[in-house]
Amino acid sequence: MVHTGLSNECVKQSTALLNSLLASHFTLLLKTWQFHWNVVGQSFSSYHEAMEKLYTAEINRVDDTAERIRALGERPLGSMKSMLECKDIKEFCMSEALPEAIVMWQMIRDDWDTMIRIIREKHEQVPAEDLGTINFLEDMIESMEKEAWMIRADNVTRSAT
Ligand SMILES: [Fe+2]
Repeated sequence: MVHTGLSNECVKQSTALLNSLLASHFTLLLKTWQFHWNVVGQSFSSYHEAMEKLYTAEINRVDDTAERIRALGERPLGSMKSMLECKDIKEFCMSEALPEAIVMWQMIRDDWDTMIRIIREKHEQVPAEDLGTINFLEDMIESMEKEAWMIRADNVTRSAT
């Protein structure tokens, strides 16, 4: 329990939202990382490096989200099973055929947009007293919107390989 002026109900509500977000970020991280490993084609290096930048940002978001939950005195999800139960982002399964590079990039673009909308929805549900989490999510939206712009801009110059 924290003694920083937040009610127990508030902490429960915020950390449940954050744990769901953690699972979604974890899923997006693994999906982007998987595409980084498996992408092929003429523009391999370009895709491979661009995907690395994005999954690295997601590693940091996973860490920051888990540590925000700890800062509120609760325990972040820590098993694959719990992550899968909680996520809002669709994972990319091993049984699926690997798409072409351009399609991977479009899937990443759509997932980034989806993730931003998910964060927006969580943000609306965070109790008004939890200023730290509200600010945390606003910063997350801003940084992901910048990446979403770059993904869209890059998409224009990429061609199917
Ligand atoms: Fe790598």
